[in-house]
Amino acid sequence: MAKTRTAYVCTECGADYSKWQGQCTACQAWNTISEVRGVTAPSGGGGSRGIRFEGFAGSLSSVQTLDSVNLSEQSRISSGMQELDRVLGGGLVEGSAILMGGHPGAGKSTLLLQTVCHLASRIPALYVTGEESLQQVAMRAKRLELPTSKLMMLSETSVERVIQIAEAEKPRVLVVDSIQVMHISDVESAPGSVSQVRESAAYLTRFAKQTGTILFLVGHVTKDGSLAGPKVLEHMIDCSILLEGSSDSRYRTLRGTKNRFGAVNELGVFAMLEQGLKEVKNPSAIFLNRGEDAAPGSVVMVIWEGTRPMLVEIQALVDVAQGGYPRRVAVGLDQNRLAMLLAVLHRHGGLHCADQDVFVNVVGGVKVSETSADLALLAAVVSSFRDRALPQDLVIFGEVGLSGEIRPVPSGQERIYEAAKHGFTRALVPKGNAPRKTIENMKVIPVTKLSDALTALEEL
Ligand code: TYD
Ligand code: MG
Repeated sequence: MAKTRTAYVCTECGADYSKWQGQCTACQAWNTISEVRGVTAPSGGGGSRGIRFEGFAGSLSSVQTLDSVNLSEQSRISSGMQELDRVLGGGLVEGSAILMGGHPGAGKSTLLLQTVCHLASRIPALYVTGEESLQQVAMRAKRLELPTSKLMMLSETSVERVIQIAEAEKPRVLVVDSIQVMHISDVESAPGSVSQVRESAAYLTRFAKQTGTILFLVGHVTKDGSLAGPKVLEHMIDCSILLEGSSDSRYRTLRGTKNRFGAVNELGVFAMLEQGLKEVKNPSAIFLNRGEDAAPGSVVMVIWEGTRPMLVEIQALVDVAQGGYPRRVAVGLDQNRLAMLLAVLHRHGGLHCADQDVFVNVVGGVKVSETSADLALLAAVVSSFRDRALPQDLVIFGEVGLSGEIRPVPSGQERIYEAAKHGFTRALVPKGNAPRKTIENMKVIPVTKLSDALTALEEL
């Protein structure tokens, strides 16, 4: 008989407690601790049930030196979708577990169905659907005109049964849609609960590691964009990718938030069409919907949003104050910081705008709270003041200090890569953020002082 052990785990940070409590002492979140019924190892030996309580990978646990580990298994398989391959760091790695998150209707099922239908012609693939019926999936595949003859389908929500069938059919790619509806009989709580998700994912990833199967798990995302279910899920899997996009937009972005086999600064872009998801090869055109002509006072910068870079446009309007006190209005930016930066601009940049109204705005209702916007904001002000437009392919970021120095900001390289990915070819950045290697199709202009930056802008 298996013994059950009860633990209390915070769904936000994964901290473990022996008793329930209202607030998590680790991350200070309220009401996030929920009961987890883990199952300790059965006292009797053997069987596939016992396996999941052994070590995490490899069928035989024996000691070997690092250089004797067989690397041929780690070769990558192309998914057939360039954008997906790129986000995963260059293709699918055997025995890896990939979690695909996204809000309902983002297109997770569509993307995975399209991918595995094409993959199935090359390697055996099994698609387990727990949310939709087989008919629904078949109808969608038919409508999207996908090759369906090779793909193995299974409608099942029991993890034990899925593993049993996978052991018999030996697929090299296994898709489980979604992890929130899967359940294990040993765990008593309902599907979708912390313990079910955790145990089901653990069981499935262990199977993937032991057999070298590529495992795709579909996971739902909560309103604030984090993956539903415990954080512990993210420790278990190798890659976590997020499919995002507002429902009123045709475009979807795929971004890695964790990747054990590559970088996470890659962005894949898709368009949701009648024929399913299509890759967008040149995304720069859609994200910054700017007019044909460069307008004075407009600058594009890269902000760092949580774990990801994002390109935004900052606009400034500088105009002669009509009597009285000149106005300083900032929308999406900090008003005090604007006043401070204008003082720095006067003192160290020699630009006098005390008799001018200054309005600044971040396009699209984005709120920018980080200091990396300083340099872009000043460039926009100067551009508007001189009524001289900046080039369309220029991106700017950097912090401006009170003595007129340009300070580096975190994740500088990733920001430059993001801009390059979106088609920008010039970047005015703090010297400390200039990459050592040259980036293809990107001219980096490093600056250390505000006066240098203004001179550089004049010369463009
Ligand atoms: P789906 O893959 O079911 O989303 P998820 O599994 O992430 O919940 O995608 C559903 C949405 O995609 C739905 O709102 C309609 C849209 N869609 C299209 O616009 N075109 C298509 O060809 C398909 C299959 C879906
Ligand atoms: Mg779905």
